Formats: sequence, structure tokens, C-alpha cells
Amino acid sequence: MAERRLLRVLSGESVSPPPVWLMRQAGRYLPEYRELRAKAGGFLDLCYDPDLATEVTLQPIRRFGFDAAILFSDILVIPDALRRGVRFEAGEGPRMEPIAPHEIASLDPSGADMHLAPVIATVARLRRELPDETTLIGFCGAPWTVATYMIAGRGTPDQAPARLFGYRHPEAMTELLFLLAEMSADYLVRQLQAGADCVQIFDSWAGVLDEASFEAYAVAPVRRIVEKVRASVPNARIIGFPKGAGALLTNYREKTGVDALGLDWSVPLSQAQALQSGGAVQGNLDPLRLIAGGRALDEGVDRILDALGSGPLVFNLGHGITPDAPIAHVEALLRRVRGG
Ligand code: CP3
Repeated sequence: MAERRLLRVLSGESVSPPPVWLMRQAGRYLPEYRELRAKAGGFLDLCYDPDLATEVTLQPIRRFGFDAAILFSDILVIPDALRRGVRFEAGEGPRMEPIAPHEIASLDPSGADMHLAPVIATVARLRRELPDETTLIGFCGAPWTVATYMIAGRGTPDQAPARLFGYRHPEAMTELLFLLAEMSADYLVRQLQAGADCVQIFDSWAGVLDEASFEAYAVAPVRRIVEKVRASVPNARIIGFPKGAGALLTNYREKTGVDALGLDWSVPLSQAQALQSGGAVQGNLDPLRLIAGGRALDEGVDRILDALGSGPLVFNLGHGITPDAPIAHVEALLRRVRGG
């Protein structure tokens, strides 16, 4: 079999037209997702049911023929496996028990393998059911981003609770991040062994860290994950997405060793071009251009293709697709990227 297009890009090849997928491509903007979600009960029930999770992962592939499928799950299955009482309340986002510094030493990862077994079963099943040419992407949250939810017990606008925790209790923070790094590395290895072609590490909250904290809390734990994953799966291909990392992106790629950098829409295309000389980049259309459609969408796509299309590029949004994205605009995006 010819190597899947997205994997060729992660190896540094330029592929034209670029492979394309969208972060959060399975989700509420799709009527077929909303219908299945309404029947499934809780969101986590959906994540832990291999039949339903497989179906939801395949929905956007059937409808749009994206070059890659991303496993349907959530980054918060790791704190759920640590029994932090994770729940998703309708219209409110995630909730869990906020963790205090003295509780970190007693976190027990020993049940995680069994807890996450249904997700691994979904990966195996997906690789069997996906078209041969479709890349299967596994994922986890970066330790820092997962920790921000564990500390606040919910999402917050600037993750101030976790930043303060880091300044007041740096040893406890480091201990938490390295526990999460070990668990996440094991989890990614199992996904790769079950049939994921590559993995993405989502650090959605990297951008709230100052320079020194970025080094300690975003770079070091992700470097540990990359090393540990490659110790088991030597050629593992890994996309890092440190959202908001800006001027620290080069440093992040060099020090973590990820193969490709996911870029949010605030990264200037000239910087993205410079980053491409060191390896593949993924991104970085503003998800709101997809909502607006028309000229805003076409111009946004064209600028990215003009600047980055002749180098190793995975076309994507700069963050997840939102529930109000019109399906016709997703179709228009794909036609434009693929030159149809
Ligand atoms: O299609 C895909 O991209 C795969 C599945 C996926 C989900 N979440 C499904 C989901 C992936 C890769 C994620 C990652 C994730 N989850 C991140 C990192 C990426 C990012 O968006 O920054 C984060 C921070 C989370 C945590 C999380 N999960 C939040 C904050 C929320 C609530 C916000 C929201 O959009 O509702 C979720 C819920 C969630 N995860 C949904 C989906 C489809 C919506 C839940 C529902 O259907 O009710």
C-alpha cells in the first residue's frame, strides 16, 4: 500500500493538494452526531462505547471524505481514569472535583489501563473499518491542559487557578504533570499498537503560560511523552498542538521532538513558512472564517495554500470546528483546498 498522504507529510514530504482534516470534525455541527448523541445518554458513555464511538468517528469521513479520521474520545478520559468524577453537563462544559496539592501524591493510575480499554477497542475497530487511504489519528491532552481542568474542576477563561497553583506549589505541579505524562505516553502507545497511524497532543492552554512556565509545564512533560512513546514505538509520528505558543513554537518543536506543529490562526503565515523549513506544519484557518463562508473563507484558504502549500502542510483549522459551522461551508472549504 502507498503510504497514507498525511503520514507522508508528517515525514516532511510536500503533498499536493495537502491532506485535510478538521479538529473536532466529529461533533455537534453534524445532524447525524446530534441524533446519535441524544440517544447515547452522557457524553462519556459515548466515548466508552466502541460501537457508538466508531460510528461517530466515521460520520465525517463518510460525509466529507477527509484524509484523516480522529478517534472520537476526549482529553478528559485521563482524569476520569484517575477517578476525579469527570462529568459533562449540558451547555456547561466539563466538571470534576478540583484537586488540592496534598492530594496529588495519592493519585492512583493503576486502574487506567482497564478504564481506557474501550477506547483502545475503538481504535482497533476503526482501523479495520476505515478506508485504506484514510489516516487514523489517536490523541491525548498535553499534561498542562489536562491539569488546568483538574485543578480548577472546570474550564476557566485564562486558567488562573492552575497558573497560581504552579507558582505556589511548583513541586506538586511538576509531580502532577509527570504522572499525567507517564499515563498519557502509555495511553498513546496503546493507541499506536491498536492501529492509530499517528497521534496528536492537544495543549489548548499552552498560550497562557509565561516563558519559564512554558518550558517547565508545556515543553518538559511533552518531551517526556515523546521520548517514552518512541521508546516503545520508535517511528511513532507525533503532532504537537501548543495553542497560543507564538514566539515559543520553534523552541517547542526543537525541545519536544514532535514531527509536526499544529498552528493556531494567530500564527503569522511568514512565521509558519519559517517553521516549515524544520518540518511539517498543520493549520491554521480561523474557525470563524468557516462560519462566515464566502469571501472570508476563500481568502483565508487561499492565503494558507499560497504561503504553505508548497511545503509539508496538513490543512486544518487553527482550533476546533464550532457547533454553528454550516455544512455547506465545510464542503466549500474542501473543494477549495482540493482545487475542485
Ligand atoms: O472530532 C474530534 O476532534 C475528536 C474528538 C475530540 C473531542 N474533544 C470531542 C468532544 C477531541 C480531540 C477533543 C479534545 C478536547 N477536549 C480538547 C482539546 C482541543 C480543544 O478543543 O481545545 C479539550 C480542551 C477538551 C475538553 C472538552 N471536551 C471541553 C472543554 C468540552 C466542552 C466544550 C464543548 O465543545 O462542548 C468538551 C466536550 C466535547 N468533546 C464535545 C465533543 C464532540 C461536545 C460534547 C457534546 O457532544 O455534548
